[in-house]
Amino acid sequence: MTEVLAYLGLGANEGDRERNIRTALSSLGAAPGVRVVRCSKLVSSALFGEGPEQGEYLNGVAELATSLPAPALLSICRALEVAAGRRLPALRNHPRPLDLDLLLYGRETIDTRDLIVPHPRMWQRPFVLLPLRELGVDLALMPRPVRPLVVQDPAKFAALCSHWQAGACTTGLVPTMGALHPGHQSLIRKARAECDRVLVTIFVNPLQFSAGEDFAAYPRTLERDVQLCAEAGADAVFAPEPLQMYDSDFCSNVAVGAAAMTMEGAIRPTHFQGVATVVARLFALSRPHNAYFGKKDAQQLAVIQRMTLDLGFPIRVVECPIVREADGLAMSSRNVYLAPADRIASTVLVRALRAAQQAFASGERDRDRLLQVASSVLLQEPRAELDYLELRGEGDLRLLPAGPVVLGRMLVAAKFRAGKRVVRLLDNLSLAEPSEIGLSAGSVLFQGDRP
Ligand code: PAF
Repeated sequence: MTEVLAYLGLGANEGDRERNIRTALSSLGAAPGVRVVRCSKLVSSALFGEGPEQGEYLNGVAELATSLPAPALLSICRALEVAAGRRLPALRNHPRPLDLDLLLYGRETIDTRDLIVPHPRMWQRPFVLLPLRELGVDLALMPRPVRPLVVQDPAKFAALCSHWQAGACTTGLVPTMGALHPGHQSLIRKARAECDRVLVTIFVNPLQFSAGEDFAAYPRTLERDVQLCAEAGADAVFAPEPLQMYDSDFCSNVAVGAAAMTMEGAIRPTHFQGVATVVARLFALSRPHNAYFGKKDAQQLAVIQRMTLDLGFPIRVVECPIVREADGLAMSSRNVYLAPADRIASTVLVRALRAAQQAFASGERDRDRLLQVASSVLLQEPRAELDYLELRGEGDLRLLPAGPVVLGRMLVAAKFRAGKRVVRLLDNLSLAEPSEIGLSAGSVLFQGDRP
């Protein structure tokens, strides 16, 4: 194999920093197929980004000429880090005696589980940019990885997912209809923490709206959504047009069972068929390892879990906790449409559910009396037009017979009218775990909605 010029980021902030780096460079130079051509100055700087208290880093860049393939070069670097005393698993931004990052490998673009080249974060890091400049590398000539990649064409999205999976990456899918808020970002962050690549889909799915519903008026904020996806760490955003998802001959649908015809399904009879169809289509296109859904739409989650099982998709459906505003309102893309008085009134949903939780915690077990507790709170708020209030079994949301309940999830939906606009809000809580834990400033998460 002919030689390729590769650039290695060098860093250390534990032990004899310079010695660690110089020892690694001589070991690299002694490895077959690697020549250390030059090394930039080594310069001290404080930790870049957030991390625990730690000493300054010594950083620089080495230019190598190598006949090794990039993964083989990376393996040598990892072995040298361990030989220098680096603890595994390597925690991000934690102190380390040696850090070797493969920044550039010729002009190649590599995007596998262990290696992204050019290094996606080097453009933000002065301690890499300055040494590279010192060595005469013109980054303007290098392909710069874009995150998230925004893809419209389903075939390209499928190809991107296959490419990552072929590079041994685990993938997490976060299906959304856009108008993203911190609730969606919590799904993306969970996927980020669990998967090598995170795919967010943004598609206002016409199949799940019926005539007279808010399909046309549903908020579409793609540019801002992509920004929020980037903040939360998404690798790709798939944002197709309706005709790209469903061509003019499209006529197949996923039928859903009787359980999907109650509650939301009773009010929106074709809704869950539309949800199941689009989710099945997204699953088929991306074939993710995991798919992340919020528990705010508990019935949707139950329908998707059932569909995944019935159709045999080898996908782990991950339930994610409800994210709430500081006053308890469950976050939803539709909350922005509430008139100010309705926004205040809308907390009645969570107040009603919490009242039932409290009654349960105080020993009340009778299904109908628990429903009455919640209902009496809802009745105090004339702005809320109740669609349904139900106490169902956890998980599959099966009907619970009258009498004592052991566990349960209470679900509520109500309409708020502002002039001609009707805003429907949904919420639900587990009876069993009433205490709340903080998620972030301005949001709370219920322990019952366990992360
Ligand atoms: O929950 C939603 O946003 C949608 O129903 C979903 C799951 C993305 C399907 O369109």
